[in-house]
Amino acid sequence: MKTRNLLSAVMLTALSFNVLAEDAALIPAHDAIKVLKPGEVSFRDDIQPILHDYCVMCHSPGGKGYAKSGLDLTSYEGLMKGTKFGPVVIPGNSETSTFTKLLTGTNRGLKMPMGLNASGTLDRQYILIMRKWVQQGAKNN
Ligand code: HEC
Repeated sequence: MKTRNLLSAVMLTALSFNVLAEDAALIPAHDAIKVLKPGEVSFRDDIQPILHDYCVMCHSPGGKGYAKSGLDLTSYEGLMKGTKFGPVVIPGNSETSTFTKLLTGTNRGLKMPMGLNASGTLDRQYILIMRKWVQQGAKNN
């Protein structure tokens, strides 16, 4: 009986290590700035590095997030232009901006960044900073 308990304890431990290892593998490299600083968010210093790490591989000419809608996230101008169906950023309103809405919820089954990991959600700090930037007027700063 004791041996069995010990065995299951060992197996449980092994299992949870396994889960941890898998989680670590799912976390993408964090090159972009992570800390939500007080004050004004900068497009160049805060937003562009996130777009660069998580979005432009699809949302630039030749990418699969560009083919249908023409959404080019390589520049401020591209982001503000939006898709060929219209803007994705509504300055001052992160709740109605598709750009920030798609980071936490879906629209026609889409959630961004597409296929990021099991839960499909960007680091919370990044989501908050992107929302804040839109709230502050989505400036080219
Ligand atoms: C693996 C590829 C991929 C990645 C990475 C990706 N997207 Fe997309 N995205 C798509 C595809 C595919 C579509 C739908 C077709 C289209 O709009 O071109 C789309 C659509 C969108 C749309 C338009 C949705 C609409 O309703 O018009 C927005 C906004 C968007 N993505 C933002 C982002 C942002 C922001 C990131 C990074 C945080 C990101 N995407 C990362 C592939 C991707």
